[in-house]
Amino acid sequence: MNSSIEEIRQKALSELEAAEDADSVESLSVAYLGRKGRVTGFLRNISSLPVEQRPAAGKRANEVKKELEEAFANALAILSASPQEDQGIDVSLPGRPAPLGNLHPITLITRDIARIFESMGFGIAEGPEVESDYYNFESLNIPQNHPARDMQDTFYVRDRVVLRTHTSPIQVRYMEAHNPPVRIIAPGKVYRCDSDLTHTPMFHQVEGLLVDEKVCFGDLKGILTAFVHQIFDDEIRVRFRPSFFPFTEPSAEVDIQCVICRGSGCKVCSDTGWLEVLGCGMVHPAVFENVGYDITRYSGFAFGMGVERIAMLKYGINDIRMFFENDIRFLRQF
Ligand code: DAH
Repeated sequence: MNSSIEEIRQKALSELEAAEDADSVESLSVAYLGRKGRVTGFLRNISSLPVEQRPAAGKRANEVKKELEEAFANALAILSASPQEDQGIDVSLPGRPAPLGNLHPITLITRDIARIFESMGFGIAEGPEVESDYYNFESLNIPQNHPARDMQDTFYVRDRVVLRTHTSPIQVRYMEAHNPPVRIIAPGKVYRCDSDLTHTPMFHQVEGLLVDEKVCFGDLKGILTAFVHQIFDDEIRVRFRPSFFPFTEPSAEVDIQCVICRGSGCKVCSDTGWLEVLGCGMVHPAVFENVGYDITRYSGFAFGMGVERIAMLKYGINDIRMFFENDIRFLRQF
């Protein structure tokens, strides 16, 4: 027996300090207090000490034995009874589900619109958001300095380059690249220098275009009425009101019976019973000429709608800005 009881005690306590789990405490307890342990060995060997040292050594060794027993027991209680609580983590709790996102209401409505037109044989076309003056205006029969330009407050990127104010330029780009028959819709972002309860500087439109031989206004009415019945409901009444767009002749605005009051008059429809949902018309011959289509052979119709407008009416939302605030409490509802 080379070590003094004080050395044994010191070593036991510092090893206990370093023990990280219940198993290591158990083995320390065996190594010091077990039958062949160091404290036990020390006690057993007291008889070999000089007679006058034996009582003090025995007394001290028993104190150390008791101290270590308590220290090991405490450490075991902490490490084995509830190790997780001690570290602030309860590994027996079920995992927290990672929050899942969902599709934005504008994406949902755009997909609904696309699905309805695809079921009627329309394909999807796309075009650039930064557009030339030619495609955004001139090719659509809106000449430079024409008062019709006032209908759309334009963001200019530089001279004769704009952020597209509508999806109508996609019509022209598509017709330049394809011969009739044409049957497409073109969803996308559009930009106008405008901001209030019902306008945001960026919003979404879906454009439509159908060109073939013998297309007439009746075809336009049939397709758009079928669309309104599918996106809202079968009972909703639809009316076509004469209007003006430079790229269509004749032009019309499509109104639907107010989805809130069903026509009796309310705040949403300004007591008219009707809500304007989209613009449309027969493609103007000047547009066909710009893309090189034979106007004696082909005719067609076009339409354009605001996706936010449809979404607001469908979901009863009265402030368009909510779509773009990214408030998760709003977005989670769809
Ligand atoms: N481009 C028009 C706008 O942004 C909407 C529109 C009206 C598109 C009539 C059309 C149409 O294709 O025929 O206000």
